[in-house]
Amino acid sequence: MLNQDFRDIILKQQEEVGATKWDGTVMDYMEIAQKQPEISMLAPARIYNMIMRCGVEAVPENRKTKGYEDIVSYNFFNEKIFGGYEAIHDMMKFLKAAARRTETGKRIMMLMGPVSSGKSTISNLIKKGLEMDDNPIYAIKGCPIHEDPLHAIPEQFRNEWNEKLGVRIEGQLCPVCQLIIDKNHTDDNGFARWHELPVEMIKISEQRRCGIGTFTPSDPKSQDITELIGKVNMSKLHMYGESDPRAYQFDGELQVANRGVIEYIEILKADIKFHHVLITLAQEQVIKAPGFPQMYLDELILSHTNQTEFDKFKNDPANEALHDRMYYVKVPWNDTIKDEIMIYKKLIAESEFSNIHISPGTLEVAAQFAILTRLFDSKKINLIKKMKLYNDEYLEEFTKGKDKDIKIIREEGRANGECMSGISPRFITNAINIALGQKEHVETGDDKYTGCITALDMVRALRDNFEHHIGGQEKDKEVYLNLLTAKEESVVAEYKEFAKREVSKAFVHAFDDQAEELFTRYDMNCKSFCKEETVFDEITGEYREPDEKIMRAVEELIPVPNESKREFRKGVFVYKADCLEEGKKWKWDTYKPLKEAIEKKLMNDLRNVVTLSIANTVSTSAKVKARRNRALKTLRKKGYCDHCAVALLGFVGEVLRREN
Ligand SMILES: Nc1ncnc2c1ncn2[C@@H]1O[C@H](COP(=O)(O)OP(=O)(O)OP(=O)(O)O)[C@@H](O)[C@H]1O
Ligand SMILES: [Mg+2]
Ligand SMILES: [Zn+2]
Ligand SMILES: [Zn+2]
Repeated sequence: MLNQDFRDIILKQQEEVGATKWDGTVMDYMEIAQKQPEISMLAPARIYNMIMRCGVEAVPENRKTKGYEDIVSYNFFNEKIFGGYEAIHDMMKFLKAAARRTETGKRIMMLMGPVSSGKSTISNLIKKGLEMDDNPIYAIKGCPIHEDPLHAIPEQFRNEWNEKLGVRIEGQLCPVCQLIIDKNHTDDNGFARWHELPVEMIKISEQRRCGIGTFTPSDPKSQDITELIGKVNMSKLHMYGESDPRAYQFDGELQVANRGVIEYIEILKADIKFHHVLITLAQEQVIKAPGFPQMYLDELILSHTNQTEFDKFKNDPANEALHDRMYYVKVPWNDTIKDEIMIYKKLIAESEFSNIHISPGTLEVAAQFAILTRLFDSKKINLIKKMKLYNDEYLEEFTKGKDKDIKIIREEGRANGECMSGISPRFITNAINIALGQKEHVETGDDKYTGCITALDMVRALRDNFEHHIGGQEKDKEVYLNLLTAKEESVVAEYKEFAKREVSKAFVHAFDDQAEELFTRYDMNCKSFCKEETVFDEITGEYREPDEKIMRAVEELIPVPNESKREFRKGVFVYKADCLEEGKKWKWDTYKPLKEAIEKKLMNDLRNVVTLSIANTVSTSAKVKARRNRALKTLRKKGYCDHCAVALLGFVGEVLRREN
């Protein structure tokens, strides 16, 4: 007995498939083409439209660097490719040119970038997209390359039919179909009844070798061109004789890919003899099988290569012919933390480790590390700040015209080849997987099991991964490892600051309110001091002298020596007046020296509480314990688990103790 539920599902699926079935003749097809000329579009146009149909979205202003003023983000790649705006934009420019049948589009498209920058992912998305595309494609039934039915129209009648149907018929009939017409559909008086040729609807499918071909170079000595253009079938040769298409297998990758895409992996590793076929195909849309007339093919040639091969290739003048026939699309790594983290999240979600908790800040540390290795020094800005700027974070010196600043710095970075070298997402995900794997002892009853990785686990895993990583220069390795130490301008230093902020915010209930309160008190006293007035005390309802203790408590942290307190306060007063005049807010975090002092003050007040709370021994007082528990609860609300919340407190306690 079949499960009724299953049966229903299968019935539904059967109907869906049935709906895409169609059989007819070239004549029937011409009727459809007349009504919907777009069904006869060429492969690049099909791919271009498939991507455009999903729509586009605006990108942040600061992404619109020189040459990319009209850049947008294509929804087709949403949730699959993170970042990569420029690469996809360049690719779309090419596809558009190809869709319009211009010379620019008649080239080999080559995605070029460092390892694991998403080149294969982009190709796969295009292939998958074609397989899922519902727009019907029609082909001559029985044609080995499932060619366009309009090819059946003989050359001498094309003009008339072009006009009648409102399409532009391109390409000659393949030898197999020609033979079928000659043998089975030709009148005694010699008229070819081409319009009677049977036509079917096809589905692009890599599995069934329809519309998608893949070519991977292997040993050039043993690999031969037949893999691309098919070969003579020896067993049929004696039946039909040479030059009879029935004795030829048109199953090379290029033929299989007709109507869709050929993915040419690591193109520059292939022998030069393979390149000539591609050049003619890109330029003239034809290939030549030995002993047969040229064969027309309609497909996108999508190749990829990595940077090292590319540099070799570029510098070799022997490759000039090919240089000219390629359209390069640079696929660099990400330069923003946000996008980079999304890659890791995607890969973790796809893995078996998706149930292990990852403490807040952990993936950030990994992404910051990766991005710092990819950025180049600039006179305008240090690396850490550059990283933050690219990530759209607040930086005081870049608040005015920030988009413009980011653009200029990004342009400089791009020109220098930023994000084409450094640490790859694959390196990072390997480290993440190792770190996650070490936490997977759920069933072993291991009491060290925490089920959670923290930023410090991550730093350790990243360092360790260098032991298991081949490639890269020793001197780079040293620079990279430095980023993982507690030195200034390192990811560890950044994490310390992050962790301290997290903990202060957890301990100080409503951190901002307290900061604002402290600031208001300072500000009020400072104003009175400068204007030589008394302060109105709301509690006592009396006027009193400005409170030196309150002001000095803040100023000493900047530090402002006692002798220069007058100038400092005057400075604050003037800054405030300027701010208000410019219509800006005057808040606790407006004036940087004050902001930092207030943060320090609140942190200092906390220092004891935190250090005490972390000890959490028998002697810890009930009050401190309660405070600690409240902080832990706040951390849990922010995405920490029991383990990493406690670990965070321990870490910050240690940092504070050392700073004392
Ligand atoms: N920008 C990105 N967005 C989403 N995922 C990415 C991105 N870059 C890399 N990845 C992920 O990293 C992994 C490696 O990417 P992919 O295989 O596409 O790289 P590649 O450029 O083809 O590398 P290689 O040169 O090593 O073949 C994949 O799992 C991919 O999903
Ligand atoms: Mg790849
Ligand atoms: Zn054919
Ligand atoms: Zn955790």
